Amino acid sequence: MFSRILGTGAYLPQRELGNKELSLMVDTSDEWIVSRTGIYSRHIAAADEATSDLAFHASRQAIDNSRIDPASIDLVIVATTTPDLVFPSTACILQDKLGIHNHGGAFDIQAVCSGFVYALSVADSFIHSGMHRTILVVGAEVMSRIVDWTDRSNCILFGDGAGAMILQASDEEGIIGCHIHADGRYVAQLCVPAGVSRNPDINAKLSMEGSSVFRMAVNTLDEIVDETLAASGMQKSDINWLVPHQANIRIIQATAKKLGMSMDQVIVTVGSHGNTSAASIPMAFHEGVSQGRIKQGDIVLMEAFGGGFTWGSVLLRR
Ligand code: UT7
Repeated sequence: MFSRILGTGAYLPQRELGNKELSLMVDTSDEWIVSRTGIYSRHIAAADEATSDLAFHASRQAIDNSRIDPASIDLVIVATTTPDLVFPSTACILQDKLGIHNHGGAFDIQAVCSGFVYALSVADSFIHSGMHRTILVVGAEVMSRIVDWTDRSNCILFGDGAGAMILQASDEEGIIGCHIHADGRYVAQLCVPAGVSRNPDINAKLSMEGSSVFRMAVNTLDEIVDETLAASGMQKSDINWLVPHQANIRIIQATAKKLGMSMDQVIVTVGSHGNTSAASIPMAFHEGVSQGRIKQGDIVLMEAFGGGFTWGSVLLRR
């Protein structure tokens, strides 16, 4: 039994925040941001838009593209670092917004930028086990709420958005393999240093040691490429598309180089989306599919690295 992708969707908030406008807010420049990150713009959610609202629009599109009845969705998984509420989960809120009242399961996954890869690996396991048949998997973030808009080294990086995917049990090959990893020794390098049970502070903001996270990301993604290829018995040349987490164009270029891939085989959205954490891979995948670049039967490698540290990959046949 395989997990096949039936359809995808994505949603970006209307407001775009370009580098020029950012350079009026903090001491930075379009030239610095583009050359160090590849980002020239990002989308910012409206004050009354929460993560579940972004997730709703992306999910509706994925459901329409899949041509399924929402009532057939027997599990909703939302990967997010910016949930609507402490509880209940954003997945429960989304389930209600979508009008899915069939008593299927719903829960959130927290693995920061690796969240979507984690969520796909969990969904794939549920389908393999026969426990669920049709799963809505979403990555959705309103990172703008946890960014310190006075910290020039971080605020230039992040954006808001949501991507969604419908997975269904099938005899045909879909997800080929998933790998997830974590190393909790690095919590302090990338975190929001406050929460519910420790240091409660509703105004706490994201903190990141950018350069060391950058180095760890490049090295770790190198290793995950080797691990994924070895486990699947595939060669680098078997992979048609790389759909990476979109943190920094230089990290993406390093992984493409490792795979011997030209940048024409990489779906890149970081320029216009910035880093949307768990939403970046499903939005990029949706873009690749809807532009007709990723075709039925293509082999796709997704990979991500983020806070925790967490990292992982998903290899699939479209
Ligand atoms: O998604 C989860 C994983 N996250 C990531 O993978 C992000 C990883 N990190 C990065 O993408 C990069 O490290 C950054 C883009 C955050 C920073 O790029 P960098 O090449 O590592 O720059 P840096 O932090 O070493 O800073 C270089 C210089 C510093 O000035 P000095 O000390 O050399 O005088 C910074 O103060 O650039 C300065 N700087 C800025 N200048 C203009 C830092 N931020 C800015 C800015 N505008 N926005």
